[in-house]
Amino acid sequence: MGRAQRDPPALVVPWWVSLRSTHPTTRTLTNLKYFATCARGLEKVLAEELRELRAEAVEPGRGGVGFNGDLALLYRANLWLRTAVRVLMPILEVPVQSTDDLYAAVQSLDWSRYMTTEHTLAVDCNVRDSAITHSKYAALRVKDAICDQFVAKRGKRPSVDVETPMVGLNLHIYQDHAVLSLESSGESLHKRGYREVLTKAPINEALAAGLIQLTGWRGEVPLVDPMCGGGTFCIEGAWIALRRPPGLTRRRFGFMGWMNYDVGLWTTVRDEARRQVAKVLPVPILGYDVRGDAMHFSDANAKAAGIGHLLQFQRRDVADFQPPPGPPGILICNPPYGERIGEEKDLVGLYRTLGKAFRERCGGWKLFLFTGNAFLARQTGLKPMHVFDLFNGKIPCRLLCYQ
Ligand SMILES: C[S@@+](CC[C@H](N)C(=O)[O-])C[C@H]1O[C@@H](n2cnc3c(N)ncnc32)[C@H](O)[C@@H]1O
Repeated sequence: MGRAQRDPPALVVPWWVSLRSTHPTTRTLTNLKYFATCARGLEKVLAEELRELRAEAVEPGRGGVGFNGDLALLYRANLWLRTAVRVLMPILEVPVQSTDDLYAAVQSLDWSRYMTTEHTLAVDCNVRDSAITHSKYAALRVKDAICDQFVAKRGKRPSVDVETPMVGLNLHIYQDHAVLSLESSGESLHKRGYREVLTKAPINEALAAGLIQLTGWRGEVPLVDPMCGGGTFCIEGAWIALRRPPGLTRRRFGFMGWMNYDVGLWTTVRDEARRQVAKVLPVPILGYDVRGDAMHFSDANAKAAGIGHLLQFQRRDVADFQPPPGPPGILICNPPYGERIGEEKDLVGLYRTLGKAFRERCGGWKLFLFTGNAFLARQTGLKPMHVFDLFNGKIPCRLLCYQ
C-alpha cells in the first residue's frame, strides 16, 4: 500500500483537561493547555511570570513553558509576559514519519471549530531531528489539509495571508513528534513598539527583560546601564518597576482574529492592567554611553515607551564611570563582544576598563554583565559570584554576576 493511502496515524488527543463545552474555541473552556516560548535559559523566569499570573500546571521545558488556564489567562499572558516570544495553544499532537502522515492528522480535525472560509490563515513551521526535513513543505501540507477540508465540505477555502493572518498556526516537529498550535500572539511579543530606530546590536527586548528578572531586581534599588546603546535595559527596567505590561499599547494580538475573540473580556483584562500602572519610578534608572547618537536613540525610545520624562541618559565613557550618589544598586550591560574575527582583541581594553571602574568606584553595587565571549569577560579581572547560561538567538551567552 502506498504511503498516501495508509490509515492516519493515531491521534494523541489535544491537551484540554476539563471542558465545560465541547467547542474548543468557546469562552466556556476553563482549563486549556498553552505553551509560551522564550529564549533558552529564561524558562524559569518565564515560569515565575506565569505563576504570578496565576497560571496552573506551570511546567518549564526547553525554550518555553507549558501552562493551563482559561481564555482570560491567555489574554493576560499576551499582555503581561515580559520574557515570552509567543503564546501557543496546541490543538494537535501526533507522531509523524512523513508529510502524508501530517496531512492525514491535520485533516482529522474539524477545522470549522477554528475558522471559516472568510478567515485568512498562515502556517509557520520549524523542524528538528525528524524524518520530515523541509519545514516549508510541511507547512504547505498543513495548509493544504485545512483548505482541502473546507473545499470538500463548503466548496470554497480560506485564503492565505502570511503577513497578518486572522488564524496563525505554528507547527513544531521534533524527533518525529508534531505539535500543531494556534498562535495567539501575532507579531512576536518582543516587539514592544518603542524601538523607533534600529541601533547597532540592540538587545532583544524580551531577553533584556528576562535578564533583569534573573538579577532579582524588581525596582527596589537604582538600576544603571553604563553602555546603554538604545536604552533597552533602562526601558524594560522602568516598565518592570512601574508594573506596566509590555503589551499595553500593542494594537493587535493574534487571538483578535480568532472566531472566539471576546472583545469585552480583552478590554476588561487590559483596563485592569492599565489602572495598576504607577506614574513615578521608585528608584533612579540611568543609562550612559560613549556615543552621542546613543543618547538620541535612548531618548527617542524612552519617549515612545511613554517614559521619556522618567529616565536619564548621559554621554559618558565607561572609563569615567561613577555610580550615582545615594544607595548602591545594580549595573547591567551587554558590552560589544566581538562576533567578527579581529574584533575581540580591540575589546580587551574595554572589558579591562569596565572591571577597573567597577572595582575602584562601585562599592556595594552588583554588576551583571551579559556577554557571549568568556575570554573578554575574564579581562574584567573580576570573579563572578553567579553565572547564568543563556542564548542570544543561536549564540551561547552568559549573564555573569559580580559583587
Ligand atoms: C551591544 S551595545 C548595547 C546595546 C544596548 N543594550 C541596547 O539595547 O541598545 C554596546 C554599547 O556599548 C557602547 N560602548 C562601547 N564602548 C564604550 C565605552 N568605552 N563607554 C561607554 N559605552 C561604550 C557602544 O556605544 C554600544 O552602544
